[in-house]
Amino acid sequence: MKLLVTGGAGYIGSVCTARLLAAGHEVVVLDDLSTGHADAVPEDCRFVQGDVGEAGVLLAEGFDGVLHFAAKSLVGESVQDPSKYWHGNVVTSVRLLDAMRDAGVPRLVFSSTAATYGEPDQVPIRETVPTRPTNPYGATKLAIDQAITSYAEAYGLAATSLRYFNVAGAYGRFGERHTTETHLIPLVLQVATGQREQIQIYGDDWPTEDGTCIRDYIHVLDLAEAHLLALETAVAGRHRIYNLGNGTGFSVRQVVDTCREVTGHPIPAVVAPRRAGDPAVLVASSELAQSELGWKPQRADLADIVRDAWGFTQSQFS
Ligand code: UFG
Repeated sequence: MKLLVTGGAGYIGSVCTARLLAAGHEVVVLDDLSTGHADAVPEDCRFVQGDVGEAGVLLAEGFDGVLHFAAKSLVGESVQDPSKYWHGNVVTSVRLLDAMRDAGVPRLVFSSTAATYGEPDQVPIRETVPTRPTNPYGATKLAIDQAITSYAEAYGLAATSLRYFNVAGAYGRFGERHTTETHLIPLVLQVATGQREQIQIYGDDWPTEDGTCIRDYIHVLDLAEAHLLALETAVAGRHRIYNLGNGTGFSVRQVVDTCREVTGHPIPAVVAPRRAGDPAVLVASSELAQSELGWKPQRADLADIVRDAWGFTQSQFS
C-alpha cells in the first residue's frame, strides 16, 4: 500500500514507519518537526516537512491509507494551554479527514489514547467503559475519535482507532527522545546515564499495594504490529476502536526496580507529591484487539521493554 504517516518524525510514528517499510509498504512521512526530529525519519521513505492540516495537496497524489500519529500529547501542557490542543489536535485532524474524503483515501489508523477513559471504575479497561477524560489532551483525542466515527458512517471511511496505554521500548535506532520528557521509563534511564541525579516518584500514598501508581507498559514494536493488522483488516464504513496494552500492571516502584536490574545502576529515587490528573491504576483489556485483529503482544516482559529502551538510550549518549 501507499501510505501517508503523519508524525513520522516522532517516537511511535518513526517506529511504525520503519515497520511499515520492512513489511514492503511505500511510505510518505508528513511532519512539521514541532516536536519530532528529521533524523528520526527512516531513510527509505519520502519526508515532507509541513502542516498536517494542509495534507490535501499531498493526498491528491493518491494514497491507500493514512496513519495519523501527529499530535500534541503533553497532559500538563494541555491543561495550561488548551487552545494549542483543540487547534493542534482537533482542528488539524478534521482538516485531515476532509482532505482524505476529498482525495478518496479509503483507510485511516488513528493514535488514540487511554486518556480518553479518564479515571475508570473498572480495571482492566475494556472499550465499553464510559469515556470521561480528565484533561484537555484526552478530551481532544476523544473528540477526534467521535469525528472519525461520523466520517466512517457518512463517507465510508475504513477507520481504526488504537487506544495506547503506556508505550515504551525501542526498535533499533528508533526510540523515545522528547525534548520535554515527562514519561517514567526514559526519565529513569536518564538517571542511569547520569543526565539526571534522581527520579521523583509522584506519590506513594495511592490505593495500590506499594502506594505508587500502576500502569500497563506496552512495547512499541507490539504496538506497531497492531497498526499493520489494523490496515490489513480495515472495513469500509466502520470505525473500530481497540485498547492496546499487555493487560498487566506495574507500579512506579516496580518500574524503577526493573530499570535498576537492567542498567546495574542504583537509580536514587525520592518520593514527591502526586502529579495532578494521574489516575491510580490504568490497565488495559486488549481482548478485543486480540480476537478481532488477531493481535498478540510478543514482548510483554517489562525487563525486555526496559532493555530495548536502555539500548536506545545508551546509543544516544555513547
Ligand atoms: N511518574 C513518576 N515520576 C516521573 C514520571 C512519571 O512517578 O518522573 C509516574 C506517573 O505519576 C505515573 C507513571 O509514572 O503514575 C507513568 O507516568 P508517564 O508520564 O510515563 O505516563 P502516563 O501514565 O502519565 O501517561 C500515559 C501516556 C499519556 C496518556 C496517559 C493516559 O503517556 O499520553 O498515559 O492516562 F495520556
